[in-house]
Amino acid sequence: MSNKKHFKLTVNGEEQEFLAEPRELLIHTLRERLRQTGPHIGCETSHCGACTVTMNGKSVKACTVFVAQADGADITTIEGLGNPDNLHVLQESFKEHHGLQCGFCTPGMITRASKLLEENPTPTEEEVRFGMAGNICRCTGYQNIVKSILAAASEMNAAKEAAE
Ligand code: FES
Ligand code: FES
Repeated sequence: MSNKKHFKLTVNGEEQEFLAEPRELLIHTLRERLRQTGPHIGCETSHCGACTVTMNGKSVKACTVFVAQADGADITTIEGLGNPDNLHVLQESFKEHHGLQCGFCTPGMITRASKLLEENPTPTEEEVRFGMAGNICRCTGYQNIVKSILAAASEMNAAKEAAE
């Protein structure tokens, strides 16, 4: 007997409806069902943050959410932040300041950073490091990630001031 239930999600602005087992992990829903393969899986213990997405305005590790818990949610993944023809300021900044190497942590890092800068638009270096503590990187040593986020924050604030 199938235990599938009907679920509805809005992912990167598009409504998605499907049948799934309630225990399906959101990261698998996003990657395998909805083909948003930017968010990655780096662990089985909720530490690495490679799976980070924004769900209903909060940074969430999608490996630690059942699809049943996400029913009706509004979700943004890296694919919804920007694309190669129209990069998000953070994507541009990570590129500019070498905030990535293998790129595996990057979708989660940038999705988290986008939220962090909403929570705190003018963070100090320490606040960036603390605010990003749920995201692990094995390549960069973090320094250039911090630089990328601080540079993106300055740029976003300058653009905001110019618009006022
Ligand atoms: S895959 Fe590591 S925290 Fe989600
Ligand atoms: S760039 Fe490789 S894990 Fe972060």
